[in-house]
Amino acid sequence: MSKSTNVVWHHSAITREHRHQLNKHRSVVLWFTGLSGAGKSTIAHAVEEKLYAAGCRTFVLDGDNVRHGLCGDLGFSPEDRVENIRRVGEVAKLFVEAGVIVLTAFISPFRLDRARVRNILQHGDFFEIYCDAPIEICEQRDVKGLYKKARAGLVVDFTGVSSPYEVPVNPELTLMTGAMELNQCVDQVMQLLQRRGVLVPNG
Ligand code: ADX
Repeated sequence: MSKSTNVVWHHSAITREHRHQLNKHRSVVLWFTGLSGAGKSTIAHAVEEKLYAAGCRTFVLDGDNVRHGLCGDLGFSPEDRVENIRRVGEVAKLFVEAGVIVLTAFISPFRLDRARVRNILQHGDFFEIYCDAPIEICEQRDVKGLYKKARAGLVVDFTGVSSPYEVPVNPELTLMTGAMELNQCVDQVMQLLQRRGVLVPNG
């Protein structure tokens, strides 16, 4: 699929391990997935604030932001969503190389696309976090008014209404975001990072 030929990988003398030692934490991807309005961005940013306060290097990649620039040429057809997630996965991988804890907030509705991102990363570096809120609740919240427009046929290919969402089969974490408080969700993510040795105690 690659059109680039005659390109040779250049290895940096400063490795990911060096960066981990400097930062005193591992770099991983926290991949939040779920319906629009399920709380992905809110939780990702709240976790980021916690991590920042703990002295970690972090960055949030957010669907609504990335689609202004890097993915501004993409819409919401299945093909465009595949390409959206492919690009974001590659960017996330670069951030991991740079020693950063990346938090991504994309609907990322297709299992295969999420699995592809998992597979371009090293084993144990990808944490799939399913923000599990019933569509009725997302639709009630309708922060951006898009569900209403989708029901009226003014927005096409809308996830959960006129485009599918494939529920994760074996995510590292499921957050019942329709029922749980934000603080509880953040705590669960932080506990996961502790358990998996991403954060070095007193590091
Ligand atoms: S993804 O499916 O390719 O992962 P992404 O997370 O980047 O989607 O973008 C989703 C955001 O785009 C939603 O939160 C919503 O604000 C907006 N949006 C606009 N049109 C649609 C649509 N047809 N389906 C889903 N989200 C849409």
